[in-house]
Amino acid sequence: MASTTGRPAILVARKVFPEVVDHLRAHFDVDLNDTDDVLSPQQLAQRLQGKVGVLTTGSERVDAALLTANPQLKIVANIAVGYNNFDMAAINAAGVLATNTPDVLTETTADFGFALLMATARRLTESEHFLRAGLWNRWSLDMFAGAEVHGSTLGILGMGRIGQAIARRGAHGFGMKVIYHNRSRLDAALEADCKACYVDKAELLREADHLMLVLPYSPEVHHTVGAAEIAQMKRTATLINIARGGIVDDAALAVALREKRIAAAGLDVFEGEPKVHPDLLTVPNVVLSPHIASATMGTRMAMAMLAADNVIAYLTQGKALTPLNPDVTSA
Ligand code: GLV
Repeated sequence: MASTTGRPAILVARKVFPEVVDHLRAHFDVDLNDTDDVLSPQQLAQRLQGKVGVLTTGSERVDAALLTANPQLKIVANIAVGYNNFDMAAINAAGVLATNTPDVLTETTADFGFALLMATARRLTESEHFLRAGLWNRWSLDMFAGAEVHGSTLGILGMGRIGQAIARRGAHGFGMKVIYHNRSRLDAALEADCKACYVDKAELLREADHLMLVLPYSPEVHHTVGAAEIAQMKRTATLINIARGGIVDDAALAVALREKRIAAAGLDVFEGEPKVHPDLLTVPNVVLSPHIASATMGTRMAMAMLAADNVIAYLTQGKALTPLNPDVTSA
């Protein structure tokens, strides 16, 4: 559908970098939510009126109600690799193309996964709080003694591109033994490249010194790690979640951390974020960050540009760069 200027109109649902807006404005009339506030479902449905494309972040839900209210919509482009904010069944049924931003964030996210692992295993934030609180008036041999990272066993649940990038860091950089579990086993060449060994979930939980969660969210994996799974882990283990809130039962994790059933956790994602389970805020042995695993300027720019390029490519040439449902007929 054309706007009053005759050019297709699109919505950018959340503030993005000016370069990205300029890039889009070369092709479209762009309505920009130039704030960091998330549009409510009603506001989003309203702002989408007359728009054929939209750039979303993980905070905007695209579902049947939104699509029914906006039958003119042709493409929804998420500025994220995860897309659990998209109801893909409804999107497919509406004949709308959906895209995400794979690859451009893989290495940056893997870097962060490792940063969180290191900070958690070596009790970095706990010891910083101690120092800032002026408590460093004595020293002991075991002060903030953490878990070894080099040479330990790294377990990875979810072995997509980011999982593989983490495996490489662990195996090649830190001499870790890497074990993984995934819906499907990697082929032999990839396993060799990652120096990773496939195990079942029970063995992963039992053997990992550090367990890293990198699997995509779907209702089937809700609470994949809860009290029963934590009970199978080593008491000295750390748990790192850079995947999605809801994969871990945060309430059960807080109890396990308080009771030292595992040593520590590092969490970048939370159930119901930006809210954080209050019990997680009061246990010392957890490192918390506000969903920033892909947050470097270069990577966030690349993600937003890729989302923009998907919209441009689909609406001007009928073919997106990173489609999730490529069988949808062209715009
Ligand atoms: C971030 O969580 C993403 O899915 O890109």
